[in-house]
Amino acid sequence: MANGALLFQSIGYPLELWTPHLARLRPDLDVRTEDNPGRADEIHYCIAWKPKPGSLAALPALKVVFSMGAGVDAIVADATYPRHVPLSRVVDPTLSQSMTEYVVMNVLYWHRRMHDLQSLQRLRKWRQIASPRAEQVRVGILGFGVLGQAAATALKALNYRLSGWSQTPKQAPGVTTFHGSEGLEPFLRQADILVCLLPLTPGTHGILDARLFASLPPGACVINAARGGHLVEDDLIRALDKGHLRGATLDVFATEPLPETNPLWVHPKVVVTPHSAAATDPAAFMAHVARTITRVDEGLPPENLVDFARGY
Ligand code: NAP
Ligand code: GLV
Repeated sequence: MANGALLFQSIGYPLELWTPHLARLRPDLDVRTEDNPGRADEIHYCIAWKPKPGSLAALPALKVVFSMGAGVDAIVADATYPRHVPLSRVVDPTLSQSMTEYVVMNVLYWHRRMHDLQSLQRLRKWRQIASPRAEQVRVGILGFGVLGQAAATALKALNYRLSGWSQTPKQAPGVTTFHGSEGLEPFLRQADILVCLLPLTPGTHGILDARLFASLPPGACVINAARGGHLVEDDLIRALDKGHLRGATLDVFATEPLPETNPLWVHPKVVVTPHSAAATDPAAFMAHVARTITRVDEGLPPENLVDFARGY
């Protein structure tokens, strides 16, 4: 078999949403599923989201693993991942657009006091609440990468005061940038609305904790659209209950689905969404997979590679 086979592994979504796009672009590919994977040594490509630990290491002829998401934490967490096999992640304008919509929606929600206005409506109270102008609101983006920079561009067009925090120095027009551990504190001190778009790595696990919240200005709001592992939930609840933080939007959780008993579901200052900020578009993703397989066939490196040393 010239091309080898492609295996869908632990994708967590109905296969029929994905396979027709690939069949249209690469009808020659032998596509296999976990139920019927065939011989392991025939599999050259694997599409994965949360693969079972050890399952990728059991595929000896792998040429590329495709993460179905931008975040690869669930894949690189597997210590047995065969690191000589390139891991390609999702970098796609449709994903950036969806995340930008989610971030803009939630920045506006907290800036324009929508949470308080909805509470007043439930009480049938006619009371106007003034909001500052956008240029007076400082939005800090924790994780100034592909998605963070896309969101910043849209927020900039709405006149917000933008800042971004990254690992390495960055320059972006109209955005004050900070980097590294020494840049974190000054970045936080001036973030009225904090948006987390970091990858989950050992260096960012639990970063949204009591210490970080204490560095934010009083009345700050937090939007976590990255991973649940960034957040220390009890610390957030304490900071909200003390009144230091005004509100939070959470899209991602340490345990997903969020258990019914989790207090965040009913916290009066929290908005919960079910990991739906930005979903990978099947057609765009399969176009990326097909393009990459062609590149690899031509001896070119895959695109959007994960750096295993950094973990993202
Ligand atoms: P990305 O392009 O890799 O950007 C990550 C950013 O975080 C980069 O600016 C990076 O700095 C910075 N960073 C990483 N570790 C850091 C550290 N220890 N200290 C300071 N900065 C650090 O990733 P992306 O494509 O924007 O995606 C971000 C995350 O969003 C994904 O990993 C995923 O978990 C999450 N996500 C969530 C959803 C959802 O539906 N909720 C959808 C898609 C993605 P450098 O630029 O210097 O490397
Ligand atoms: C979704 O959470 C992603 O990482 O793309």
